[in-house]
Amino acid sequence: SGFPSVLRNGLSKLGISNEILDFLFKWAVDLDKDYPKIPEAKGKINAIRSEPFFIPLYELYLTYGGIFRLTFGPKSFLIVSDPSIAKHILRDNSKAYSKGILAEILEFVMGKGLIPADGELWRVRRRAIVPSLHQKYVAAMISLFGEATDRLCKKLDAAAFYGEDVEMESLFSRLTLDIIGKAVFNYDFDSLTNDTGIVEAVYTVLREAEDRSVAPIPIWEIPIWKDISPKQKKVAAALKLINDTLDDLIAICKRMVDEEDPQFHEEYMNEQDPSILHFLLASGDDVSSKQLRDDLMTMLIAGHETSAAVLTWTFYLLSKEPIVMSKLQNEVDCVLGDRFPTIEDMKKLKYTTRVINESLRLYPQPPVLIRRSLEGDMLGKYPIERGEDIFISIWNLHRSPNLWDDADKFIPDRWPLDGLNPNETNQNFCYLPFGGGPRKCVGDMFASFEAVVAVSMLVRRFNFQVALGAPPVGMTTGATIHTTEGLKMTVTQRTRPPIMPKLEKTTFEVDESTSGPEGE
Ligand code: HEM
Repeated sequence: SGFPSVLRNGLSKLGISNEILDFLFKWAVDLDKDYPKIPEAKGKINAIRSEPFFIPLYELYLTYGGIFRLTFGPKSFLIVSDPSIAKHILRDNSKAYSKGILAEILEFVMGKGLIPADGELWRVRRRAIVPSLHQKYVAAMISLFGEATDRLCKKLDAAAFYGEDVEMESLFSRLTLDIIGKAVFNYDFDSLTNDTGIVEAVYTVLREAEDRSVAPIPIWEIPIWKDISPKQKKVAAALKLINDTLDDLIAICKRMVDEEDPQFHEEYMNEQDPSILHFLLASGDDVSSKQLRDDLMTMLIAGHETSAAVLTWTFYLLSKEPIVMSKLQNEVDCVLGDRFPTIEDMKKLKYTTRVINESLRLYPQPPVLIRRSLEGDMLGKYPIERGEDIFISIWNLHRSPNLWDDADKFIPDRWPLDGLNPNETNQNFCYLPFGGGPRKCVGDMFASFEAVVAVSMLVRRFNFQVALGAPPVGMTTGATIHTTEGLKMTVTQRTRPPIMPKLEKTTFEVDESTSGPEGE
């Protein structure tokens, strides 16, 4: 590390305040003169407004490389698209970074929940929450995924029957909301069937979080604005409704736990209510109800839009690659037939899993990770100061022509079916759909299985095509990548596909629209 940075960190550890250090080290930049300077790209604000911001960042990456600085007037950001620098920030020196701007933007909805939290609070909450997502819990969730997907299938049956096109993005959003509500705090949003006030409130808050994350000026921080802006009033009312609902759910769950025989152990799970909330309360998690609410809200949001986006882009990709689709359907016909998936099937649905892996490569959710340096550090050969805002572009890593063959192509078997499931460790931080290091997603297994269950059940029953005359599927972004105008699809029932035992060679009726080349 650069000498001034090392010195500064040493002094900081001796308890000298940051204000004094900032004053003393103003000259340190000059001492760092021997070090190379981070390449600087001049920001073109206009370019950044008209398309999702990670697209111009990709263009700049191709010009300036794995780390560069982007400056807008007084603000500047470091854009990182280099696997070894990403590994350094996320894993090897993760304690030197906080969530920075992200925590500031999400404060109004997540408070000090697990995603924005930093330091000791984060450590304590992470230690409390991670055990709740144990093996037995995830296995129990498989049937929840199946039941929820089955409700979606019934809706699609009707659409297929009447020949009505469906907008899949909003249906996936409802599917994953129903799932995460039950999974996290045992609440049935039932949003696939009903539009209740609470469902609308969740969407109001989500849209606001996304608006704030792309807004140039934080007008919601202006004191009077909060009270007179109709939009802000609506947001406040929505937040109150959700918070009150969460408080009720916490109270109900507390009563259940009090009446239980307290037999808490590592894989504890209440069969009637396997939710994360129930686990936390039964574990005697010593936490304020505000903090508990913040954590529940964080998981609601973290597990909802991300999963919905994965399903949306997976079906979009499948609609463009009929050969992949028929291989996928072939596997599902062999492994599942019309059964609901079980935890054992997760190991067998190898190609389905690769389809999800590859969809997450092409459409990572979120497309960038946000950090702020808490102390001086070295990023590659460059020294950086405390207080740098950093965007790690997962989009760039996942689509880099230097790291991938045919980077823009949807090729699920780029990872051998019998090999390891790709993750940040075995792909050396070139592939990090769930982040990496100590702040890696706690719901990675949950989310992967959720997507595998939903995709397998849907493609078993239906064929999907982008609807004729549908608007082109463009990208827009908040926290996750959305479509600009939805994903309008024509859904048709597959003519009852046979259940095919894997090794038996029989002749069988081929579904007309899936008569691509043979599967494996
Ligand atoms: C963190 C992705 C589903 C809960 C993260 C991070 C990523 C991610 C990339 C790291 C963020 C960062 O380092 O700044 C995804 C994707 C999902 C998904 C792509 C779906 C396909 C879920 C689900 C849950 C969840 C279902 C809850 C059950 C969390 C939490 C964190 C997190 C609590 C913060 C962890 C911490 O900071 O210690 N997720 N996630 N995620 N995710 Fe997920």
